[in-house]
Amino acid sequence: MLPPTDSLSLEDLALFNELFANKFGLHFPEHKREILEARLVPRLRANHLKRFIDYYLLLQYDLKRELDPLTQAITNNETYFFRETNQFEVLEGELLDDLMEGGVKGRLRALSAGCSSGEEPYSLNIFLRRALGAGESAPLRIDGIDLDSTRLEQAKQGIYRPSSLRSLSPEQIERYFIEHSPTAFELKEPHRLGVDIQRGNILEPETLGTPQRYDMVFCRNVLIYFSEPALKSAIDNFARVVRTGGLLFLGHSESIIGLTPLFQAERLGTSIAYRRRAHA
Ligand SMILES: C[S@@+](CC[C@H](N)C(=O)[O-])C[C@H]1O[C@@H](n2cnc3c(N)ncnc32)[C@H](O)[C@@H]1O
Repeated sequence: MLPPTDSLSLEDLALFNELFANKFGLHFPEHKREILEARLVPRLRANHLKRFIDYYLLLQYDLKRELDPLTQAITNNETYFFRETNQFEVLEGELLDDLMEGGVKGRLRALSAGCSSGEEPYSLNIFLRRALGAGESAPLRIDGIDLDSTRLEQAKQGIYRPSSLRSLSPEQIERYFIEHSPTAFELKEPHRLGVDIQRGNILEPETLGTPQRYDMVFCRNVLIYFSEPALKSAIDNFARVVRTGGLLFLGHSESIIGLTPLFQAERLGTSIAYRRRAHA
């Protein structure tokens, strides 16, 4: 049996926070020290290390090798289909027409940044295709990116456990999924159409795409875990890829009001979105 590891000190926490915030944006406040400790212990064990400082030094030396298991350990991937649908429901009628005409005419392009296992981009796909009324031929493309390669693999497979479907009625489950077993529901092919899932990092602009690429970006329940400097970098990176007049949607407990001149807060139905300004 391996000897027990030491506990994560405040000094260790500060070192990991500096590294995680720089690389991924993520910040663990002091009251989450034990959570981080519990998530890192299996990584120390897997690397036959006893001390957190040794794991930190290993990351400094060879982050690439630990990247996948580390991001799996430190990210919160909680998500489900049809989460906060009020933001999807406003995307119809005049607003949708304006979005279709304001960028590359007759075409819509969206990004789900921090898409986890795909529930968000696929839900958006279902809502937007219905609103566009063109079904499979809708001129729509949605990109989903995330740090966590295991979640991305699940997103690509499109097979979900019942917990991901908890907001859906039995009729919706039957309409959108094939039930392979009580624990495996496969999203039907037409609802995956036009969704592309790739590894990406909100802090690495080159993984977000070319300038002015998107009519809308959804980054919900992600920035809440970011350090303040990383949040500012994320806003700048989104401002680069959202076209002028395009929209940024955040989670309902997240806000960038007062943090940037690049986006203007706007009420859309019962939710707030941020519109990319022309000049700032
Ligand atoms: C709580 S989930 C939110 C999923 C979905 N957006 C939703 O609202 O249901 C947060 C996701 O953000 C991802 N994430 C965290 N930091 C990221 C970064 N720097 N770049 C890309 N994804 C990131 C995590 O891996 C995780 O899957």
